[in-house]
Amino acid sequence: MNKTTWSQLWLDYGKKKGHVSCDKESIAVVLDGFSAENRVIKSLKSELEKAFDGLFDKKIAFADDAKSAEEKAYRITIAKNDSMAAESYKIEADSKTIKVVASCENGALYGVFHVIRELMRGTAIDAIKAECKPSNPLRMMNHWDNMDGSIERGYSGESFFYENNDIVISDRTRDYVRFMASVAVNGIVINNVNVKDAASYLITDRFFDKVRELTEIFADYGIKLYLSLNFASPIELGNLPVCDPLDKDVIKWWDDKFAEVYKKLPLLGGFLVKADSEGRPGPFTYGRNQADGANMLGKAIAPYGGIIIWRCFVYNCTQDWRDRKTDRARAGYDYFKELDGKFLDNVILQIKNGPMDFQIREPISPLIGGLTKTNQMLEVQIAQEYTGHQIDLCYLMPMFKEVLNFKTYCQKDNDTVADIVSGRSFGNKLAGMAAVINTGDNANWTGNYLAAANLYGFGRLAYDTELSSEEIAKEWAEMSFNLEGEETNKLVSMLMNSREIYEKYTSPLGIGWMVTPHEHYGPSIDGYEYSRWGTYHRADHLGIGVDRTDKGTGYAQQYYPENTENYNDPDKCPEELLLFFHHIAYDRKLKDGRTLIQYIYDSHFEGEAEAEKLFETWKGLEAHVEPEVFASVCHRFEMQIANAKEWRDQVNSYFYRKSGIPDEKGREIY
Ligand code: GCU
Repeated sequence: MNKTTWSQLWLDYGKKKGHVSCDKESIAVVLDGFSAENRVIKSLKSELEKAFDGLFDKKIAFADDAKSAEEKAYRITIAKNDSMAAESYKIEADSKTIKVVASCENGALYGVFHVIRELMRGTAIDAIKAECKPSNPLRMMNHWDNMDGSIERGYSGESFFYENNDIVISDRTRDYVRFMASVAVNGIVINNVNVKDAASYLITDRFFDKVRELTEIFADYGIKLYLSLNFASPIELGNLPVCDPLDKDVIKWWDDKFAEVYKKLPLLGGFLVKADSEGRPGPFTYGRNQADGANMLGKAIAPYGGIIIWRCFVYNCTQDWRDRKTDRARAGYDYFKELDGKFLDNVILQIKNGPMDFQIREPISPLIGGLTKTNQMLEVQIAQEYTGHQIDLCYLMPMFKEVLNFKTYCQKDNDTVADIVSGRSFGNKLAGMAAVINTGDNANWTGNYLAAANLYGFGRLAYDTELSSEEIAKEWAEMSFNLEGEETNKLVSMLMNSREIYEKYTSPLGIGWMVTPHEHYGPSIDGYEYSRWGTYHRADHLGIGVDRTDKGTGYAQQYYPENTENYNDPDKCPEELLLFFHHIAYDRKLKDGRTLIQYIYDSHFEGEAEAEKLFETWKGLEAHVEPEVFASVCHRFEMQIANAKEWRDQVNSYFYRKSGIPDEKGREIY
């Protein structure tokens, strides 16, 4: 496959032909209460057609109503029921008909994709039954695609949205939108949060026509298009001297701009903004706060029903490593907590899952639930920036489940992250989850074929946070491969173990970083230790870890008391986060009696060995995997093992040299 062809990911109906069957001779689709002219209903019909043709070689008929459907045909009825929750659906089936009931077109579309999913998994059509309701109102993908075609933190080729500072629209765009709708994604930000160069002009005549075309294609599948915004647009596009959010010329500029934008792009969902972060302009320049900036935009966009998604990834990235008081982990809470309740209703804060930056293990951001009077949504990263660049296998749903299940203690009940970001805790209408996406123009979309499990998984989890990581992995594996039952289980268990394995051979017990600077792949233990980014491990000859207790930076105090109490005390701190919160001596005993240094050695030897086992398990699936897919994944595993060895040996050697304490088991350390 080259640039002009691309895989169908988990919707490869043709691949399933002969592996699944449907015993109904003729099939008729009947609409009951939905208009055949509706754009989403049209997409739903065309998807059913594609699926039945691809899976079973069957043509389906579309009847205007129940009466006109051929008497003996098996019916797929798409029925409207206004009393149901938005975007929910119910499926019931018997030997004569399968009925998908929903209150709106999106619900109907998701119901149809549910039917297709079950058919692909081998379920008989009349055995499909479901009742599903979205956990989160906003379920979004964030592209970090730049208009020159590059992708910030992209590991799957170039952008399929842009080339040479222009927008590209092709059948691939349409397929991408189908895939996203099939997992119930309903919002997509199409450009990088670092808005520079041509991307600043996405809100001008230069690109309106093409962006509009994209908004239409997205709308066909019930998806709203969003843009990332350059906060300095009044300066860069409007020739104003400032972009101060309280300046009246700036306010007028945005009012006029949004009037123009919505005239040209009536379907636009709104904007995502990275301000005052890593060199991006923002309200701080003018002595204003984050609410001043967000609300200025919120007010200007309100007449058009648009929303402003304001990121909380605000921190000082020019820190002095000698300074032990300033703690990057504190920054989000320090900047935003005091503004709780000050944001407009159409503004939502987007908060990264951890206080640092998408490490393999971090505590949950104390801002989530720390805020109680502000719309908030969770941001995670399925682009594997710090988790193996889609070379190493790292299925992230187990991590996301931990995040969602975390009890914040912000109130008595309904206090988990899942409760808060869904809007359940505090009754917010604007709420949800976003993922920095892992796609690119590689034929298989995600570089590593197996990384598609994260793409699929995020959508499924954002729609239903009660699903288990394992269920999601199983669905994806069954749709994407033609493996036998036991083999599917093997693939699922590879995915399920992969995060822990990656964690074992990289940075220990929540300390994070230790990666090659900038690239963020492969070890460099001191790579960030003396730099400006605020990401230090503080290892010396006696111990390692950052003291974030009340005696250290005080970060642990940003949580509600129940969590603070645990994090503040090394005896109570969850061990996997020990080094995030405490500076620990190498000879300190962990819960199982091993010393910290011995744990570091053991986990690194184990992690590397387990990565090799993953590869062995994969090799065992060869007979039932397409040769191209098999070989490509083998190549990734070869690279993963080389990476794991490098991590193992560099981390172990580093700590052996620092501590002078040998491995009890006498294994080779350099
Ligand atoms: C990380 C990442 C950057 C990105 C930033 C963000 O720091 O390395 O590439 O721009 O996060 O989330 O804004």
